[in-house]
Amino acid sequence: MKTLALWAHRGSHGPAGPLENTVAAFERAVDEGAYGIELDVHLSADGVPVVFHDETLTRLTVDADPRRIEDLPCAELLAIELVGGARMPTLADVLDGFMGRIPLNIELKDPAGVEATARLLSGRSTAGVMLSSFTESAVAAATRRLPAVDRALIVEGGDPGALDPRGAIARTGATHYHPEHALVNRRLAAAVQGPINVWTVNDPAIARRMARCGVAGVMTDRPRWLSRAIEKGAGPIH
Ligand code: G3P
Ligand code: MG
Repeated sequence: MKTLALWAHRGSHGPAGPLENTVAAFERAVDEGAYGIELDVHLSADGVPVVFHDETLTRLTVDADPRRIEDLPCAELLAIELVGGARMPTLADVLDGFMGRIPLNIELKDPAGVEATARLLSGRSTAGVMLSSFTESAVAAATRRLPAVDRALIVEGGDPGALDPRGAIARTGATHYHPEHALVNRRLAAAVQGPINVWTVNDPAIARRMARCGVAGVMTDRPRWLSRAIEKGAGPIH
């Protein structure tokens, strides 16, 4: 069976671990020997790429702050205490701290993030960096703007890119294909012809199925746990 690359999805995080998409979660991914780190990027109101998953602060602030990331300037976002006392990093912080140490899969939640990210990457070695997005136009923009950098089209069920992977890859110029794991079977893997990384896999049985289908890697919230569980033939994370 093919060996899977384990990407730390939003870093390595979980109930007893660091908060997702924080420097602590990324350090833990490095410590756990993850192959790479997946992280999510939005733009602040003043156009700075910040690392955060949701469109609003609600889920990750103690007082369920409903404000939107895109409505707040970067300085204000960085001052906000997230649950557990963590702070939101900027993408520049993460590039400074992790580029060259471990591969980075930068998921652009806002298509406008392509240009801002390209400016941040300018002058740096981009080896080990990948841009990814659910938005076809963002992947196509990355292909034009950063042709030497890997870029992935992320898809979920019902997306045009799930119904016609090869067409979507051709339209966007994606070098990688990132479907949710439920979409993957051997026929799809053969049709795609390029590297596939799937999300989000916290169950070793699913990871083993992905390996049998020939996928290159899986994104998981807990890389070390999953790696050991795959070896032991254990059940899903509790
Ligand atoms: O990169 C794929 C995966 O992260 C997409 O899902 O919602 O966790 O960003 P989400
Ligand atoms: Mg993501």
